[in-house]
Amino acid sequence: MKIIEVNDYQQMSTTAAEYIIEKVVQNPSIKLGLATGSTPIGTYQRLIEDHRKNGTSYQKVTTFNLDEYIGLAGDNQNSYRYFMDHQLFNYIDINNAKTNIPSGMAADLQEECNHYEDLLTKHSGIDLQILGIGSNGHIGFNEPGTSFASKTHIVELASSTIQANARFFNRIEDVPTQAITMGISTILKSKEILLLVSGEEKGEALFRLVNGEIHESFPASVLKNHPCVTIIADKAAIAKQRVYC
Ligand code: F6R
Repeated sequence: MKIIEVNDYQQMSTTAAEYIIEKVVQNPSIKLGLATGSTPIGTYQRLIEDHRKNGTSYQKVTTFNLDEYIGLAGDNQNSYRYFMDHQLFNYIDINNAKTNIPSGMAADLQEECNHYEDLLTKHSGIDLQILGIGSNGHIGFNEPGTSFASKTHIVELASSTIQANARFFNRIEDVPTQAITMGISTILKSKEILLLVSGEEKGEALFRLVNGEIHESFPASVLKNHPCVTIIADKAAIAKQRVYC
């Protein structure tokens, strides 16, 4: 794992965007794995700015999102489809038909998981996967205890994750308790992974990722088994490392 240290959230976002843009320019048909949440918002804003200013094109790019809440339709403003449309897709020239997000409204949710996994296989997998990390080490919605062999599956969200995500909802009762997520083995099949970490509240998780053992109790630790992971972390998240190193 390579760690790029940056000053703050803004610099993390700029550095991540530059990294992604370079890959898109090198390979206009790149398959990108995308994350939602607070962490990548600044990165997506930089991608939009660059698209407007420099015309970087996403017409041939295919995207696969990590996860989606069960029970929220794409036009629900808390769904991850809505997030992606409004934080990125609507403002770049991407072909909507090439943006893939599991459907949390599918009649047969298990079938939807199988279909998503098959779709990834059919596209020969993701070239560059963008990840955030949960304070409990989750990646995607793979909560502690998830098998490293897991494929796209239905999850019960941990109460800490529900609480963390409640900030986007009017009431904590409105936060869905289930989601569909790419599995850990699905994520690990990506050719390259870019993990973004910002803020003191992620310091503990970053410390455990870098210094802890590889174990299913801390899902992100599996990234140490991947040959090509780059972490872009800001000083606030890294501060914890310094205390111990
Ligand atoms: C989002 C996702 C999650 C988030 C993680 C961090 O699609 O899969 O794993 O990356 O919960 O969320 P933020 O960035 O809001 O701290």
